[in-house]
Amino acid sequence: MRIVCIGGGPAGLYFALLMKKLDPAHRITVVERNRPYDTFGWGVVFSDATMENMRLWDAATADAIEVAFNHWDDIELHFKGRCIRSGGHGFVGIGRKKLLNILQRRCEALGVELVFETEAESDADYPDADLVIASDGINSRIRQKYAAVFQPDIVARPNRFIWLGTTRLFDAFNFLFEKTEHGWFQAHVYKFDDSTTTFIVETPEDVWQASGLDQANVEQSIAFCERLFARHLQGHQLLSNARHLDPLKRGSAWINFQRVRCRQWHHFNGRSHVVLMGDAVHTAHFAIGSGTKLALEDAIELTRLFKQAHEAGTGGAEAIPQVLERYQAAREVDVLRLQNAAWNAMEWFEVVGTRYCDQLPPEQFMYSMLTRSQRISHENLRLRDAAWLEGYERWFAERALQGVPEAARAGSTLAPGVKPPSPMFTPYALRGLTVPNRVVVSPMAMYSAQDGLPNDFHLVHFGARALGGAGLLYTEMTCVSPDARITPGCAGLWNDAQRDAWKRIVDFVHGHSGAKMGIQLGHAGRKGSTQLGWQQADEPLESGNWPLVSASAIPYGQNSQVPREMNRADMDRISADFVAATRRAADAGFDILELHCAHGYLLSSFLSPLTNRRGDAYGGAVENRARWPLEVFAAVRAAWPQERPISVRLSCHDWFPGGNTADDAVALARLFKAAGADIIDCSSGQVVAEQKPVYGRMYQTPFADRIRNEVGIPTVAVGAIFEADHVNMVIAAGRADLCAVARPHLADPAWTLHEAAKIGHEAIAWPVQYLSGRSQYETNLKRAQA
Ligand SMILES: Cc1cc2nc3c(=O)[nH]c(=O)nc-3n(C[C@H](O)[C@H](O)[C@H](O)COP(=O)(O)OP(=O)(O)OC[C@H]3O[C@@H](n4cnc5c(N)ncnc54)[C@H](O)[C@@H]3O)c2cc1C
Ligand SMILES: Cc1cc2nc3c(=O)[nH]c(=O)nc-3n(C[C@H](O)[C@H](O)[C@H](O)COP(=O)(O)O)c2cc1C
Repeated sequence: MRIVCIGGGPAGLYFALLMKKLDPAHRITVVERNRPYDTFGWGVVFSDATMENMRLWDAATADAIEVAFNHWDDIELHFKGRCIRSGGHGFVGIGRKKLLNILQRRCEALGVELVFETEAESDADYPDADLVIASDGINSRIRQKYAAVFQPDIVARPNRFIWLGTTRLFDAFNFLFEKTEHGWFQAHVYKFDDSTTTFIVETPEDVWQASGLDQANVEQSIAFCERLFARHLQGHQLLSNARHLDPLKRGSAWINFQRVRCRQWHHFNGRSHVVLMGDAVHTAHFAIGSGTKLALEDAIELTRLFKQAHEAGTGGAEAIPQVLERYQAAREVDVLRLQNAAWNAMEWFEVVGTRYCDQLPPEQFMYSMLTRSQRISHENLRLRDAAWLEGYERWFAERALQGVPEAARAGSTLAPGVKPPSPMFTPYALRGLTVPNRVVVSPMAMYSAQDGLPNDFHLVHFGARALGGAGLLYTEMTCVSPDARITPGCAGLWNDAQRDAWKRIVDFVHGHSGAKMGIQLGHAGRKGSTQLGWQQADEPLESGNWPLVSASAIPYGQNSQVPREMNRADMDRISADFVAATRRAADAGFDILELHCAHGYLLSSFLSPLTNRRGDAYGGAVENRARWPLEVFAAVRAAWPQERPISVRLSCHDWFPGGNTADDAVALARLFKAAGADIIDCSSGQVVAEQKPVYGRMYQTPFADRIRNEVGIPTVAVGAIFEADHVNMVIAAGRADLCAVARPHLADPAWTLHEAAKIGHEAIAWPVQYLSGRSQYETNLKRAQA
């Protein structure tokens, strides 16, 4: 095969040498605009796993890298005068120049033709090539030429960064945070050879501008960073080797990261097959340092597929189209996964100055930073550095205990030498309520009441989950009047019989478990008068429908009733219904009340611009849309005992253009906080039938995180939280204060007890009646784990 690689970075060089090694008959040329053995840039990092992969494919290259690389395990944080260090992170650092030199030398040894100081203008310059590798980096000319085919999706991110070096040698991967009058700057610092350390300085665009760095040339920028990080540099200078940059041009040394993705990775130009590789086709932010890893793994995968084709007897140029199809299919998935993790890590560094630096204590800040990509979980941290994690768990548990009243600490002392509980199993206090752990049975409509009256089903349902270890149980959306119900099976609290039936359940929970009991109060609005959940959900009843009201006269679905737009008298009547239900809930003994302002029901229909088109004082800007829900909140707060907290459940994103987004949720949370809400339960969606939610593991937790840390109010995270590891990650990182778990609790009433057993948390009380079940369960688990 005749192969030309345009661009002699890690992707082009490594692919060239692997293919030449695979079959020396291939004629391979790498065309590079830079001089031989000449490159700009400082160190790059990749993981131990990438090294192992490289060793499998070319031991000579791996050996040469291993001689030259720096390996380190520790991550060190310098923040607010503290230095915190944790180990087990396993990185390899090498100078970019050294890496390229090794690859260049290996190419030469194997007989790859290297052509330097040559600008490749186009793939068409190489008409004899069977295969053109467009490994020409992030600004790929080839990608731009065939933009219509490759369909690149390029997003420029808001932070500015400058890639510098220093002669101060740091003995761990360091993250340095420094505050200025304009905001926070951070440095990512890692040594990559015996004399040099990479020093990347990063800050948001507004802080960068306010600091005058948009007007600074390279020298002035370096001087600024040297002053800012002086105590870390200990007299060493910062260095720039970006020779390609005009040293006098203002602001030019500071760049924005660009995330590149392409829909199509290869193209036949009439003579040659052209395929994108490395940064040309995808980029990953340096926050998890994986751009070089991706480039090298692209090269390995394409080589592997050619090898496979060769072994199957279909090698040579004729195999190219099929191999390229497979290459894209195989790499796309891995790259997307890594880009998602890199995206999370990158976003963390984009918001860190406004969301975490001033909010989180150093210990928790470290935890948040280590788990920023969401790929490293709580238990994964334990594998990396058990001593550090246990220290953190102790710190967290001590603070949690300090937060709860003396009387509620029962048995939860932390003796030295005793294993601390993981964050999931620490108590949490709000006003006069203390929950024994952070697990909440999320509100779930059971559609099993008659005339709103809870019955034996509800007693058994809640009883089982209370015995199952959760710290707090919510009722389903409990409706404040008959016409506030979603379905005829919904539970209610508009009469004394219902109050008494609820009291029986609350008394059982309090009498037989340590769990607390919350009630979610709501009104269905335009989503009312529909069939039971397991019938045709959201579709009107076949008969016996009742009239609906909503913020505006817009039906929910195609077959839905058109609701009547509420007038002032409706508002007063329904507000009074909420107050009456609140009083009954207090009498029934509920510990916390949640006002259901989510999922498109009545209060939510006011909050979303998709469902609120009112022209009066209750429609328009977010403050107006929130006006009536806030009136209801105030009335409920006044009727609810002072020592008992109130939660507000919000749809933090409507998942539909023109609807509420996280920005609106932050504004709404601020309004409810000002009105006296104690905690925001951060759900999303279900506001309009046309929604397009983006689901995933813990997918709504970012809303809880943002609201908690930007608004300064406790939050509940909910949505696809289904393992103790998830709960621990969320709580430990300060992304939320409680985790609501819904569907896992349908599958397993004793979810909390079972998860405790799985992570070896023994200090949780099982009902005494079930103790022999406990020992068998734990023994079997240990056997399975062994
Ligand atoms: C601040 C920063 C820190 C980073 N840190 C890390 C890290 O720690 N770990 C990591 O893995 N990655 C890191 N990266 C990313 C890493 O540098 C790239 O992802 C990696 O180099 C991609 O390899 P590549 O071969 O695809 O592209 P490149 O390395 O960009 O190589 C492309 C080559 O093509 C040449 N070229 C371009 N156009 C032409 C043309 N028309 N004709 C001839 N030659 C051409 C260029 O001169 C260049 O040599 C970092 C990036 C930045 C910006
Ligand atoms: C059967 C069922 C009924 C639900 N009913 C309610 C409800 O009454 N009120 C509410 O706010 N959310 C309700 N939800 C949403 C859950 O509280 C929760 O937010 C959602 O299921 C995501 O959590 P999960 O991934 O743990 O299931 C319901 C969910 C389910 C599965």
